[in-house]
Amino acid sequence: MARDVAIDLGTANTLVYQRGRGILFAEPTVLALNKETGAVLAMGEEAWHMIGRTPGYIVAVRPLRSGAISDFDVTEKLIRLILQRSGVTRLARPRVLVCVPSALTEVERRAVEEATLSAGARSCYLIEEPMAAAIGAGLPVHEPLGNLVVDVGGGTSEVALISLGGMVTNTPVRVGGFDLDAAITTYLRREYAIAVGERTAERIKIAVGSAWPLQNEEKAELRGRDLASGLPKNVVITSEEIREAVAEQVRAVVTATVECLGASPPDLVQDVLLNGITLTGGGGMLSGLDKLISQETEVPVHVTEQPLESVVLGAGKCLESFDQARSIFLDSSRRG
Ligand SMILES: Nc1ncnc2c1ncn2[C@@H]1O[C@H](COP(=O)(O)OP(=O)(O)OP(=O)(O)O)[C@@H](O)[C@H]1O
Ligand SMILES: [Mg+2]
Repeated sequence: MARDVAIDLGTANTLVYQRGRGILFAEPTVLALNKETGAVLAMGEEAWHMIGRTPGYIVAVRPLRSGAISDFDVTEKLIRLILQRSGVTRLARPRVLVCVPSALTEVERRAVEEATLSAGARSCYLIEEPMAAAIGAGLPVHEPLGNLVVDVGGGTSEVALISLGGMVTNTPVRVGGFDLDAAITTYLRREYAIAVGERTAERIKIAVGSAWPLQNEEKAELRGRDLASGLPKNVVITSEEIREAVAEQVRAVVTATVECLGASPPDLVQDVLLNGITLTGGGGMLSGLDKLISQETEVPVHVTEQPLESVVLGAGKCLESFDQARSIFLDSSRRG
């Protein structure tokens, strides 16, 4: 019998967990597409490797860029590739648990289920990402306690208060790490009149970006293209400047956290005041974001040990005890 798999189909990264084995792979959510025929040729690292080594009509695309799963065909192909790489064959069809943003509409959820089944799954179950993240972070989601999770992803972020195995309040934010990268690109264009690619912007963010003043402010050198001359130009940028560049996007995450607390039942908020807020997702690693959220909410904030993995690890825990976990899945029969 096939081993169940859980998939975190993130805007930035795709992770797969296989029951009894653990994380099988974690790769960027990138597809290599043949622009002329529309054929999907590869995903993840393999897709990056194809670009530049293959004819010009093969391009890399981030299919889930906007956060929502918009194109059914592409989603289906993506899931098919993921299942193939997880060793799924026509004879060994697994149950598949897919992590989805809680803001997904009913129609979009059905599209994910259909894509998963058509890609070769025996059955498909859905779990909301903040719930999976909370389980992955080891929070006591089944207890009558308020657990607050802030998941800052690539395309979107979500703040959710979880209690008794369900989401009590949730506040989606249309801002994630990619938006911080875009804000850095805009800043460099405006202040230094240079153009940089998104991978450079991301590298700078990870190297010197922050949400809170650093003890020793840092500097980084980057190379862009001078907008006036078109020639390469080097610029030295400080962590303070990057903080200013991303301030608005960072603020949106903080505001959503405050709003989520404000909209939650007082007793559950009391638990959060005692136990703190759990910060996760790749964007949760932005230096000082924990301090800023803590300052603005007056609640301690803990960053999870594996921010990039908490969603898939949580879904994986659900696979390991499938029958107990079933009550928190969004399966269609219960959604009616
Ligand atoms: N050290 C870091 N500091 C700041 N941002 C980081 C750091 N490391 C990774 N990131 C950012 O985290 C984001 C990816 O996070 P993650 O893998 O959790 O997103 P995702 O789950 O694919 O997206 P989503 O949940 O929105 O669909 C990227 O935008 C990346 O630039
Ligand atoms: Mg995510």
